[in-house]
Amino acid sequence: MKVLAISMGRKNHNCDIIAKQALMAAEKAGADVKFVNTMNMEISHCRGCGACSASRDRGGQIRCVLKDDYLALEKEVLDADGIILAVPVYSIAPTGQLVNFFGRFGAAHDLASATVEQEKRISEGKELLDERLFRKHYVAFISVGGAKTENWTSMGLPNMYMFGMSTVMKTVGQINAYDMGRRTSPVFDPAFMENIAGLGKHLAESIGKEYSDVTWYGEPGICPVCHNKLLSPTGNGTEVECPLCGICGELSVENGQISVRFPEKQKLRARNTLRGLYEHHYELHDMMEIVQKNIAAHKDDMGELLAPYFSYAPDYRE
Ligand SMILES: Cc1cc2nc3c(=O)[nH]c(=O)nc-3n(C[C@H](O)[C@H](O)[C@H](O)COP(=O)(O)O)c2cc1C
Repeated sequence: MKVLAISMGRKNHNCDIIAKQALMAAEKAGADVKFVNTMNMEISHCRGCGACSASRDRGGQIRCVLKDDYLALEKEVLDADGIILAVPVYSIAPTGQLVNFFGRFGAAHDLASATVEQEKRISEGKELLDERLFRKHYVAFISVGGAKTENWTSMGLPNMYMFGMSTVMKTVGQINAYDMGRRTSPVFDPAFMENIAGLGKHLAESIGKEYSDVTWYGEPGICPVCHNKLLSPTGNGTEVECPLCGICGELSVENGQISVRFPEKQKLRARNTLRGLYEHHYELHDMMEIVQKNIAAHKDDMGELLAPYFSYAPDYRE
């Protein structure tokens, strides 16, 4: 059982110490462990070129064509059974490096598209996609913020959730490690460090379990799937949506407390399930048919309609 701890903070600062504390506990629970600090890794943003999915659709492997440190980190993530992710909050959200990583990792490895392609290749006897894409991966998130209030880390954990969403990783638990400034160093707070170790141990103990048998470590949150507490009103009465999982529930106030009931049917179509991803896969598939029709309908006037925009205000750097 391989557990990888990723720290995106400064070398030997809070994220490193916290990630290593969780990793030590995972090792004690029997894991083979590996640590990486990504602070000086070059991980550029997705250019939207589509080369990764085009390679998949042409019978090749899913591969990003940008040559930077993303490729090394992608390999480690796919190799690991369990991942501990400790990421600093910069401006209420995780550091952009994480967003760059999952921008290139998530959509490219979307499990619904990969499964459809793999089934096709099996039936045609062709070279198969990397089997690591179809393995279970388990993940524990720790968002690390300096500010005293949770309020200044509000988008930390919710954004971290996107790390394993398209690949259907199982989140086993999460900790919002805010207030690191007053704590000065995590090692000055034994109760805090014990909690972090508890998450690392829980990750190691969850590996190999059926996803439905994995219990949650951390605050329960409001959404029963991702355990975060973001809610968007849908405009339909008291219906609200978890913007991360894309599932709807009914909001009510009981004993002065907000509660949301998410029907079972909704939980089963959450974005981080294969079923939820298939919903999106077919949505995109249907969209492509409409796009083709629109292009055919505008084949004679498309150039004329676009010309004013292409010729207007050239990029000031050109
Ligand atoms: C550019 C920048 C923006 C930050 N913004 C926030 C913030 O919005 N909320 C917060 O709680 N901490 C914020 N912090 C503090 C860091 O989250 C905190 O110092 C954390 O411990 C950094 O991780 P590290 O010690 O592993 O490097 C910010 C730090 C930097 C450098």
